[in-house]
Amino acid sequence: MADQHVRVVFNQKGGVGKSTIACNLAALSALRGHSTLLIDLDPQSNSTQYLMGEAASAISPSGADFFRRMLDITAPDRELKDCIVKTPFKNLSVVPAVPELEDFQSKLESRYKIYKLRDALRGLKGFDRVYIDTPPALGYYTRSALIAADGCLIPWDCDTFSRQALYLLMANVDEIRNDHNAELKVEGVVANQFQPRANLPRRMLEELREEGLPVLDATLSASVRIRESHDLAKPLAFLDPRHKVALEFEALLDELEG
Ligand SMILES: Nc1ncnc2c1ncn2[C@@H]1O[C@H](COP(=O)(O)OP(=O)(O)OP(=O)(O)O)[C@@H](O)[C@H]1O
Ligand SMILES: [Mg+2]
Repeated sequence: MADQHVRVVFNQKGGVGKSTIACNLAALSALRGHSTLLIDLDPQSNSTQYLMGEAASAISPSGADFFRRMLDITAPDRELKDCIVKTPFKNLSVVPAVPELEDFQSKLESRYKIYKLRDALRGLKGFDRVYIDTPPALGYYTRSALIAADGCLIPWDCDTFSRQALYLLMANVDEIRNDHNAELKVEGVVANQFQPRANLPRRMLEELREEGLPVLDATLSASVRIRESHDLAKPLAFLDPRHKVALEFEALLDELEG
C-alpha cells in the first residue's frame, strides 16, 4: 500500500518507554481513523499485554509462527498476515510477541533472515500505520525492524549516563541506513518522564539540540496514569483522552505526522 508508514520505536537501553510510546501512539493513530498494526518483537511481550490484557498469555497466532517457519520448513507456512490478531480497540491490530521468540533469535541471526520482515511488510495490505516495538538490544529483531522501517523514533530518559549511549545509538542507526535501508529516517528523540521544571533535563535537551541531534519539541511527563493504563490494558487515548499525558501523545503524533 502506497501510504503505509512503518515506524520503529528503538533504544537499546531498557525501560526508557519504548513499549509505552509504541502502544500509545498506535492507539492514537487508530483513534484518528488509521488502520494500524503494532508488531511486538520483544519476547517480554509488554506491548502485547498492554493491548490484549489477560488474553495475552494464551494468544495465538503470534509473531513466533512467522519466524518459526524460517527455521523449520516443516512448520506450518505462516505469512505475516496470518499472524495478526485484532485488539479490543477499533482499527488496531497486533502481531503478538511470545517468550518463544527469544529461542529463535540466534538461529535467525546466523541464517541470513534479516530482510524477511521488510519483505513481509512490503507485501502486507490494509494498514496505513505500522508500529514496531523492539527489545532493549540491537539483536536480530531490532535490526530486522530498523531495516523494515521508514522512520525511527527514539525514546530517551534524560539520564546523564545514557547520553553517551544516545550517540552510539545514532551511529548504529546510521550504519543500518548505509548498509541496508537508505530510506530509514530518524524521526526524532523524544524525552520521556521529562520534568519541565527541573533545570538539568531541560539543559541536556538544549545541548543535544545544539550538538545537532533531532530532539523533538514534544516531551512526555511522568505520570502514574501511565502505569494504571498498563495495568488496565488500555492505552491513554482510550482510558483517559483528556489526561495531560494523553494530550502530550497527541502533540507528539502531530509533530511526527504534521
Ligand atoms: N511517562 C511515564 N510515566 C510513568 N511511567 C512510565 C512512563 N513511561 C514509562 N513508564 C513506566 O516505565 C516502565 C518502563 O516502560 P516501558 O516498558 O514502556 O519501557 P521499555 O523501553 O519498553 O522497556 P524494555 O526495554 O524493558 O522493553 C513501565 O513500568 C512503564 O509503565
Ligand atoms: Mg518494552
